Amino acid sequence: MKIQSIRGVKDILPNEIWKWQYIESIAHKIFPRYGFKEIRLPIFEDTRLFCRSIGEATDIVEKEMYTFQDRGGDSITLRPEGTASVVRAYVEHKMYNPPSVLKMFYTGPMFRYERPQAGRLRQFNQIGVEAMGSPSPIVDVEVMTMLMEFFKELGLTNIELQINSLGSQECRPKYRELLKTEIEKHLDHLCSNCTNRYQRNPLRILDCKVEQCGKIAEGLPKLIDHLDPASAEHFSQVRSLLDSSGCPNSVNPNLVRGLDYYNRTAFEVTSNNLGSQNAICGGGRYDTLVEELDGPSTPCFGFALGLERLVSLVPFDDAKILPKSPDIFIVCLGEEAKTAAFQIAHDLRLKGFQVERDYEAGSMKSQMRKANKIQCRFSLILGENEIRSGNFALKNMETGEQIECSAQELAKEMSTLSASL
Ligand code: HAM
Repeated sequence: MKIQSIRGVKDILPNEIWKWQYIESIAHKIFPRYGFKEIRLPIFEDTRLFCRSIGEATDIVEKEMYTFQDRGGDSITLRPEGTASVVRAYVEHKMYNPPSVLKMFYTGPMFRYERPQAGRLRQFNQIGVEAMGSPSPIVDVEVMTMLMEFFKELGLTNIELQINSLGSQECRPKYRELLKTEIEKHLDHLCSNCTNRYQRNPLRILDCKVEQCGKIAEGLPKLIDHLDPASAEHFSQVRSLLDSSGCPNSVNPNLVRGLDYYNRTAFEVTSNNLGSQNAICGGGRYDTLVEELDGPSTPCFGFALGLERLVSLVPFDDAKILPKSPDIFIVCLGEEAKTAAFQIAHDLRLKGFQVERDYEAGSMKSQMRKANKIQCRFSLILGENEIRSGNFALKNMETGEQIECSAQELAKEMSTLSASL
């Protein structure tokens, strides 16, 4: 029986990994400019961590977690997101009182048992950032502008930053009751999912993608019209700072996010080129989560972006981000050449060149075809005559130009010819 990968998970193959590495390298370049340092977190955690942080009434906790009992009988969950783990690590290692806001970023796989479709996987990868320790709206805006700078550097176009405020414990319970009273009038017309959400998580009805629910949501009261004064002031500062930073954005009063820990600013970045799963990134403020996980009061702001979705949007055909092709292909003619090529390849690799060769030593024609196919910049022909004379034919595959040189001169000639390309 042929065993295949699990539904909703994907291999990232060697011919596309450079795209991922490129995106990650841009994150490593840009995020530290804003003070972020990398943190590496475990892939599985105590199940209670996610129930308490993401919220019992969310889709993720109710039906999407990969939860199992390990051999010791503990309930373990493959992480569905990274924020809960960052907060757990923050509290566990008492990373309190840093000189300034503590800023961390992470990359890695997340797991959610969702219905697989284009752009929606069961194992997917995120890059996430968390800024911990300040309630200032400047932090919200600095992190969102950093994200937009990151997308700009990757050449993304046609993306939209949508923001909203989810208020606080002061205004949300009252708004929730108001919302339920209004929704009650439409109960018969909601999708089955939203009928369930009505009692447990009515705010989620606001961003339901089902058409009939969307129409109902349009007429429902908006939380931004019912914010407590401090949250309203915070949101107004976020908006004016964003506008003055020249970062295009729009307010989407129906944006609610699928995780329960948010308060005040919530945001998403969407793309028109992604189909129905159009969110590349989501995040916001979570000022009470650290306390809920038994740490000191620590207001936080963060986001996570979906790498699979991002990879599908970046214009990689832009020549400056294409992967480097091998420097040289050693064409070996005959048994003796196969062995001699071993030493030459080794010496060139020690000098930093990317070397390919043929291990079977087929015909010259077939080896040159391989060299062309993998787009080597040079080829080196190694036959009995060349080994005997110590003179090798080094060919520039792009121009066809060919020179003779000794093994000692090889590296120097390649560097000179490369520089003149
Ligand atoms: P999230 O909105 O659940 O937020 O996920 C963030 C991003 O991960 C989404 O915008 C999407 O691009 C990607 N994503 C989510 N689910 C899938 C899936 N099944 N398949 C492919 N991509 C997916 C969070 O995870 C929060 N922890 C973000 C955050 C950090 N908030 C504060 N700090």
